[in-house]
Amino acid sequence: MSDNMERDELVAVARRALENSYSPYSSFRVGAALRFADGSIVTGTNIENASYGLALCAETVAVAKAMDDGHRGGLEEVAVIGETAAPVTPCGRCRQVLNELAELGDTDPVVWCAGEEEVVETKLSELLPRAFGPGSLTA
Ligand code: THU
Repeated sequence: MSDNMERDELVAVARRALENSYSPYSSFRVGAALRFADGSIVTGTNIENASYGLALCAETVAVAKAMDDGHRGGLEEVAVIGETAAPVTPCGRCRQVLNELAELGDTDPVVWCAGEEEVVETKLSELLPRAFGPGSLTA
């Protein structure tokens, strides 16, 4: 499978995930998809709250679902998409949440940041350099 097909598939899965977005306050729908080394894919979408500051981002929901499924590493690829023309990049908190799962399996996942008109390839280490993670507690 070519890299572009893998990218397009994962972005398409993330795009479908945003259909379940619960975002009545921002009306900003976001979808995320995580691909693991075993081939499994876990999705997430943003879930807001009447107490606005309690919103859960799509990437954080995906990581929580994956960890609840038992994943403790093997995170190879992430796709995040919004409905703006420009790509959506993970917020700072989500970068940290993604890093926890990545570091557990010692991977540096590719992060596809997508919008309606553009997909940008990044790495988690590029989005969150010199990250604080599980290993930092014992280093
Ligand atoms: N949001 C995400 O789900 N992921 C991001 O990386 C950026 C922001 C959500 C949170 C909130 O529900 C809405 O987008 C507007 O900020």
